[in-house]
Amino acid sequence: MNTATTTAGHVEPTAPKTPPTAVHTTPRVPGLPFLGNALEMSKDIGRFFLRCYRQYGPVFEISMLGNRYKVIAGVEAANFMGTREGRECLRSKEFWEGLVKEYDATRTLTGEDGEAHKQLRDVMRSGYSKESIKGRYDELVNITDGALLRDWKVGELVPVVEGMQYMVVDQLGQILTGAAPLEYVKDIRTTILHILNVLVTRQRPKFLLKRPVYKKAKSRVHELGEKMIADARARYGRVKPEDRNLIDDIMAAHIERPDIMPAQDLILTLTGPYVAGLDTVANTTAAITYTVLKYPEVKRRVLAEVDSLFDAGPIDEEGLMKRIPSLQGAIMETMRLYPIAVAQMRTATKDFVFQGHLIKEGEMMFVATSVPHFMDEFYPEADRFDIDRYQRPRAEHLQPGVYSPYGRGPHTCLGKSLAEVQIALSMARLFYKLDLELETPNYQLKTKTAPTPGPAMDFKVRVKGYRH
Ligand code: HEM
Repeated sequence: MNTATTTAGHVEPTAPKTPPTAVHTTPRVPGLPFLGNALEMSKDIGRFFLRCYRQYGPVFEISMLGNRYKVIAGVEAANFMGTREGRECLRSKEFWEGLVKEYDATRTLTGEDGEAHKQLRDVMRSGYSKESIKGRYDELVNITDGALLRDWKVGELVPVVEGMQYMVVDQLGQILTGAAPLEYVKDIRTTILHILNVLVTRQRPKFLLKRPVYKKAKSRVHELGEKMIADARARYGRVKPEDRNLIDDIMAAHIERPDIMPAQDLILTLTGPYVAGLDTVANTTAAITYTVLKYPEVKRRVLAEVDSLFDAGPIDEEGLMKRIPSLQGAIMETMRLYPIAVAQMRTATKDFVFQGHLIKEGEMMFVATSVPHFMDEFYPEADRFDIDRYQRPRAEHLQPGVYSPYGRGPHTCLGKSLAEVQIALSMARLFYKLDLELETPNYQLKTKTAPTPGPAMDFKVRVKGYRH
C-alpha cells in the first residue's frame, strides 16, 4: 500500500497511483516488406518524420530492415525529453552497446543513464566545455588557416565534407587532446563511419565490420588510443589544474576513480571527441558553406561582418558572437533546416503513456525532436532561409520545444558551447580567407543520411582565390 506523510508527521494510507491509460491505438506507417520505411527515410529523414507527424500525430510506428520502432515526435516529444518522466522512461544503452562491445569496453558516456551517466558527464564536463578554448581563439584560427592552406587549393573544386573532416580532426585534436593526429585522420574517419553506420544507427549490415579496410583502420585507432594513454599517463600530476585538458581529466579519473573509468574504457573514451565531433561539425559546416554561397544577400552580409571582425585585429573572445549576428543567423538557420540529429534513439525503460499512446517497456524508439524545425506554425514560411528569425523580437527559436539542433534532455550535446565557437570561427575564417563559389550558380545541395544526415560527399565548391 502507498503511504504519505502528513504535515503532522503521521503516516497515512493513500490510494495507489493508477498509471495513465492509453486511449489511442498507435498508427503504423505503411511500408515495403522487410525494408519497411527505410527507403523514404533514406531520402530525407527529417521530411519523413514531418509527413508522418502531420498525418498520424505525435506517436506512430515505423519499421526499418525488419525492426519496429515507436516514434514520438514534435514539440510534445522535445519537451518530454527534459522532464523527469522523460528521463525515467527513456534510456540510451541499447543503441551504444554494439560500440561498447566492439571496443571491449564496459560503457560509454552516450550509452549510460541516471547516476552513472551523471558521473561520467562530470568527469568530462570541463574538458568538453567552452572554457577549454578560452584564450585559444587565435590558435583555433591558425589551425583553421593551416587546414585551408593544405586542403583548399586555389583553382580546385574541393569536396567540402571531406575538407571539413580534416579540418575538424585538426582542431579537436589540438584543442581537446593536445595533438593533431593527422596521420590517423583517414583511419579515424573510416572507423567512425563504420561504427555509426553499422553499430549505432544500424543503417548498414554487420558484415561490413569484417572488411579489411575497417579492421586495419580500427587497429590504427587503437594504436592512437594507446599513444594517447601513454602521453596522458606521463603528464599525470605534472599539469597545473587550470591547464588540464579533456585527456588529462579522463586519465585522472582513471587513476583516482578506476571504478568510474576502468582501463578497458580508456580507448573508447579518449577517442570520444572524434566520435562526437567529427561528423557533426563537418556536416554542419559543409551545409553552412552551401547556404551562405547559395543566397547572395546572406553572403554579402556575412562577408562584410567577417571582414570587419578580422580587420580589427586580435579576436575579442567575450564579444565574438555579438560581432557576427548575420553569420550566427546563417549557422542557426542551417542547423534548423539541415539538422544532423534529426531524431534521438532510445529504448523505453518501462511501460508508459505518451499523448494517450501506450509505449511498452523495451520498445525501440525514435524521438523526432527536429520535426518542429520544419513547421510553419513555429517558423513562418519554414522552408525559407531567413537568417533574421533568431533576432529579438522575433526570436522564433525560443518557443518551447521548437529548436533542438543539439538534442534534448540529459544527453544534450556536452560539446555544444565549444562547438558553437568552433563552427563560428571556422566559418568566419573560411569566408574571410577564401573566395568561394558553388560548382554551378543553380547548384542544389544533395544530401546523405548515413551515417549522419548532411551534405553528400560529392558536394564541391570552387576556390577562386584568396580574399586575404
Ligand atoms: C554541429 C555540431 C554538433 C551537433 C549538432 C551535436 C549534436 C549532439 C546531439 C544531438 C547529441 C545528443 C545525442 C543523443 O541524445 O543521443 C550530442 C551529444 C554529445 N556531443 Fe555533440 N554535437 C556537435 C558537436 C560536438 C562537439 C564538437 C563535441 C566535442 C568534441 C561534442 C560532444 C558531445 C558529447 C560528449 C555528447 C554526449 C553527451 C551525453 O551523452 O551525455 N559534440 N551532440
